[in-house]
Amino acid sequence: MRAVQISELSGPDALRVVDVDEPEASHPLTPGEGVVIDVRAAGVAFPDVLQTRGLYQYKPDPPFVPGAEVAGIVRSAPPASGLAPGDRVAGVTMLGGMAEVAVAPSFMTFRLPDALGWAEGAALLFNYHTAHFSLARRGRLAAGERVLVHGAAGGVGTASIQVAKALGAEVVAVVSSEPKAEVARRAGADHVLLTDAADGWLAGAKALGGIDVVLDPVGGDRFTDSLRSLREEGRLVVVGFTGGSIPEVKVNRLLLRNTEVVGAGWGAFVMPRPEVARATGEALDAMIADGFVRPVVGARFALEEGPDAFRLIDERGATGKVVLEVAAHPS
Ligand SMILES: NC(=O)c1ccc[n+]([C@@H]2O[C@H](COP(=O)([O-])OP(=O)(O)OC[C@H]3O[C@@H](n4cnc5c(N)ncnc54)[C@H](OP(=O)(O)O)[C@@H]3O)[C@@H](O)[C@H]2O)c1
Repeated sequence: MRAVQISELSGPDALRVVDVDEPEASHPLTPGEGVVIDVRAAGVAFPDVLQTRGLYQYKPDPPFVPGAEVAGIVRSAPPASGLAPGDRVAGVTMLGGMAEVAVAPSFMTFRLPDALGWAEGAALLFNYHTAHFSLARRGRLAAGERVLVHGAAGGVGTASIQVAKALGAEVVAVVSSEPKAEVARRAGADHVLLTDAADGWLAGAKALGGIDVVLDPVGGDRFTDSLRSLREEGRLVVVGFTGGSIPEVKVNRLLLRNTEVVGAGWGAFVMPRPEVARATGEALDAMIADGFVRPVVGARFALEEGPDAFRLIDERGATGKVVLEVAAHPS
């Protein structure tokens, strides 16, 4: 089968599209069992780009096929999974998704709602489960609260806007350009603030009356301003560090303003807790049915163009989810 491969850890330019053997019906998280999926679309995300340089926390030895999530058609499934050949599904593969055939553990494979196409399906799990976990569970977001989302036009960002709206929040998006502002507005943001605004995004957040929950996939030097933007008892949820540096907190700030910094590491939490993944899947299905969640697919590439998809994210040019589309192939 055809697959994208990371054969050395020197960045997206070293990616190749190669022929490799199809995988066994077994996943490392559930040895001896797994759902085999004929892939129709595979998600590409910031952590995949970090993996091309060996900079992500999950560091397999090369050569390996990247790809944490796919959408496609079940080829085979364990009897206890409740899935059958021919079912449309989305699955978290962790690795190996950017290929014609991939394997996901059954507890991380979800029926794809009819309303979503393949590319939207490949954009659904990683970002929306992270957004729900970060906002609802870790951030304890309540209806009527005001959420600020950094990197709001990105994959996690657009997902977080939609999930926050579904949870009844008012959403403030922070982005770096006017085209990205438009993406955030279309995803449902109520207010958009530009990072390079003359008076800064913090002034805009304060003018709105302050923030209850900041969702931060960016980190870096805006972190202290995020703390300054919080109302009393506000929460800053740490999701990632696309800005390149890991901020430090002077904890007197938390004491003086009665605020919290909260970590949200979705994968580490959910992998040993399949029941959390299932409950989140059900919550998201309801948000899809109610029209709140519709994954934003910002760019589509053919599998053979995989390296271009990585470069788009690497150059900060991506909006929404970047997806590789896999042409139908004989199974
Ligand atoms: N904690 C978890 O469980 C979890 C789960 C999934 C992902 N993540 C993390 O969440 C982060 C976002 O992932 P994603 O897939 O949403 O990424 P993405 O689609 O590439 O979006 C990231 C956003 O970060 C902003 N950004 C600010 N400085 C940047 C820089 N120097 N380079 C690149 N982007 C920069 C960009 O927005 P502007 O240009 O508008 O500033 C960009 O839209 C990653 O760090 C990822 O590892 C964490």
